Amino acid sequence: MSTITTITYLISSILFIIGLKNLSSPKTARRGNQFAMIGMLLAIVVTLFDREILHFTFIVIGLIIGSAIGAIVAKKIQMTAMPQIVALFNGLGGGASAFVALAEYYRSDGVLETSMIVSLVISLFIGVLTFAGSLVAYGKLQGLIKSAPFVFRMQRPLNSLLSLSFLVFGFLVVINPVNNTGLLAILAVAFVLGILFVMPIGGADMPVVISLLNSCSGLAAAATGFVLSNNVLIISGALVGASGVILTRIMCRAMNRSLSHVIFGNAGVVDTEDIFKTETRKVVRYVEEDAVMVLDSAQSIIIIPGYGLAVAQAQYVLHELAKTLIDRGDKEIRYAIHPVAGRMPGHMNVLLADANVPYDLLFDLGDINDDFQNTDVVLVVGANDVINPAARFDKKSPLYGMPILNADKAKNVIICKRSLSPGFSGIDNELFYNSKTMMIFGDAKESLGKMVKLLKS
Ligand code: TAP
Repeated sequence: MSTITTITYLISSILFIIGLKNLSSPKTARRGNQFAMIGMLLAIVVTLFDREILHFTFIVIGLIIGSAIGAIVAKKIQMTAMPQIVALFNGLGGGASAFVALAEYYRSDGVLETSMIVSLVISLFIGVLTFAGSLVAYGKLQGLIKSAPFVFRMQRPLNSLLSLSFLVFGFLVVINPVNNTGLLAILAVAFVLGILFVMPIGGADMPVVISLLNSCSGLAAAATGFVLSNNVLIISGALVGASGVILTRIMCRAMNRSLSHVIFGNAGVVDTEDIFKTETRKVVRYVEEDAVMVLDSAQSIIIIPGYGLAVAQAQYVLHELAKTLIDRGDKEIRYAIHPVAGRMPGHMNVLLADANVPYDLLFDLGDINDDFQNTDVVLVVGANDVINPAARFDKKSPLYGMPILNADKAKNVIICKRSLSPGFSGIDNELFYNSKTMMIFGDAKESLGKMVKLLKS
């Protein structure tokens, strides 16, 4: 490897680290992305010029097809579909790492040092597992597969058997690297395990599995980096792997679950009989005029955004409503952000930043949860699971134990959503039936738009 390549890889790695550091705050996230993009461009260009590439034909064809698909997807994708696209990208990252490792295996006819073949086996296993698992996560988020956990008898013994067979095949390949049947068996085992790993996780626990798959895609890339002896791939893979682990920890803490509980505990299993147990309860339907009267007379307001805000694309009108209320008098308006609100980490922060909501109005759960009891009105826009009181007391609920935003402690609660439908976890929310709750049924963008008009007229 030439000195120029080594130095450029070092610069790329530094840019990735600076990029990640900047991603830790919404204020600097855009700049962080730019640093990381420049780092990646440098790494790609220098790799193309450094390696002894005999023919660029396939590389150019791949670049054109990949760039065209990427550009079309980026242009056409709805903001609401971002989480599943991120899940898909994770999977493709894992799949690409596995393919590169496989290509290296066939290029060298399996004649590789032991350390290389161990890395190759790890890369194939994690890469394919991430690919298959991410496809299932994509299906769940896209609504192609039921988001509820899928469990069957003998699932755990089957998983244990598959894990054991990976170890056996892995060992056979390591002691006899030209054994490509063993390698193909590892591919098949990893694919089935990837599916079986994600199928039983569902409902509110999906954030944990998504961040874990993110981490796995990085680990697969790092392992492939060892196979190719490519430092920048090792470093960037390790960075993705490590940040994915940190994110997984944050998500576990947000859900108040241990990782083993999410993976092995079948948390999120919903008792379907319980979902509709409140069918006979009465809900009073309020209209926008009622909500405006309460909001207008309030001094302290906390807004809780949720996934429905993204579906309705109501972030702009929500910001307008907040500004209109502030203009009308002495009001304190803040936004409470639950770490798993929406469908991807930071989903609400991204939406609100898009609408230019000042960052200093956004408060994390831990920083605002004690203030609800002294708050006049909580305005919930398209959130459901993150305010469901069942998480506090209902031991049978898949949400049990997850810290929620204390919306029910406020003096008045206004909830904007289209119906009484449950959220992602699939369970009913008793806050809808609380006497201090005003349900405003309808698309959030339309309801909030009406409120703005009423306030201005
Ligand atoms: P949810 O509990 O999923 O509830 C969203 C609510 O938005 C729904 O009840 C829906 O009710 C309403 N809604 C949908 N479209 C709407 C529209 N156009 N206008 C108004 N309301 C609309 O959302 P949440 O409270 O944000 O909780 C997130 C859930 O997703 C958690 O269970 C979390 O674990 C899970 N999850 C999170 C992630 C990450 S990383 N954040 C990833 C995967 C899963 P209607 O249909 O009645 O309108």
